[in-house]
Amino acid sequence: MVGGLLTRGEYPVMRRAVSRAIEAGINYFDTAPLYGDGQSEVNLGAILRELRADVVVGTKVRLAPSDLDRIPAAIPASLEASLRRLGRDSVDLYQLHNPITARRRPDQVSLTPDDVSVVLRAFEALQRQGKIRFWGITALGETDALHQVVSAGGLHTIQTVYNLLNPSGGRLVEPGFPYQDYRRLIDLAAAQRIGVIAIRVLAGGALSGTTDRHPIAMRGVAPISTGRDYAEDAARARQFDFLVTERVAESLVEAAIRFAISHPGISTAMVGTSSLEQLDHAVTAANRGPLPAEALGRVHTALSRTT
Ligand SMILES: NC(=O)c1ccc[n+]([C@@H]2O[C@H](COP(=O)([O-])OP(=O)(O)OC[C@H]3O[C@@H](n4cnc5c(N)ncnc54)[C@H](OP(=O)(O)O)[C@@H]3O)[C@@H](O)[C@H]2O)c1
Repeated sequence: MVGGLLTRGEYPVMRRAVSRAIEAGINYFDTAPLYGDGQSEVNLGAILRELRADVVVGTKVRLAPSDLDRIPAAIPASLEASLRRLGRDSVDLYQLHNPITARRRPDQVSLTPDDVSVVLRAFEALQRQGKIRFWGITALGETDALHQVVSAGGLHTIQTVYNLLNPSGGRLVEPGFPYQDYRRLIDLAAAQRIGVIAIRVLAGGALSGTTDRHPIAMRGVAPISTGRDYAEDAARARQFDFLVTERVAESLVEAAIRFAISHPGISTAMVGTSSLEQLDHAVTAANRGPLPAEALGRVHTALSRTT
């Protein structure tokens, strides 16, 4: 949805991107009913069938307000609709896409930790039917509630924010850190052997350091757990310019991707792409491996001054 390639791109370009990604060793594809109002699932499903690709596919369920008093029925119905769009009998990973908060917040259509227990029972039933292999959550919402859900166990994966601007999921931040403090949710999950999927690795694109958007990328990217707006995130990204000027990385985007994969608790990092060039760029960055320890130390020093 963010990069737009699989929702607003041209089909032959999408197909080339998926094929090139698989050749490069990428084996996990993330989609959701919400992305392009189902179009991402339709396109990804068609391409994977055409390519006869054996990859890991994850999709999600976002419950609507009217579903909240019928969660056990709403979840299989949403999965059936996703499977129809994807043209598959099952998916590898099925994730809750609603935010998680201490109390239900109608403005966000969020679920409480107790609601999540009901969701997980529905996921278990789908696993017994062979329709999903594993399940998890998108770990957005309130930090306390997210810690409660992850500590309770019973999850295979979380998708969580981790980037140069807000790495609080994977390291201690100073008191007064200005963004949401996830209080090392990644470490909590990794200690329980829950798979951690990093999202917002490029802060929705702001970690390119500019506010220019690709023509097919999502127009208004609202910051998640970072600044007040996209422009503020892009401006703050420039504090890491030293990684480029000192030739640790060739670009801020490369530095940001390599930062995400430097955390040992992260199983995989997702990068939204708008074009084949951005895909190639991400692959090249990942192939250069984690940032060196010395550079990570300098990043942490820069972060400790973030107020
Ligand atoms: N964010 C969430 O809440 C969330 C939740 C669950 C799943 N996800 C998944 O994660 C995917 C990515 O979303 P995200 O929010 O995590 O995005 P992201 O990867 O942080 O940012 C993606 C954006 O970065 C820019 N970019 C990528 N490569 C670049 C390059 N080489 N040079 C310059 N700019 C580049 C592109 O925007 P421009 O070119 O326009 O700048 C692209 O749209 C989603 O599509 C979804 O599958 C996200």
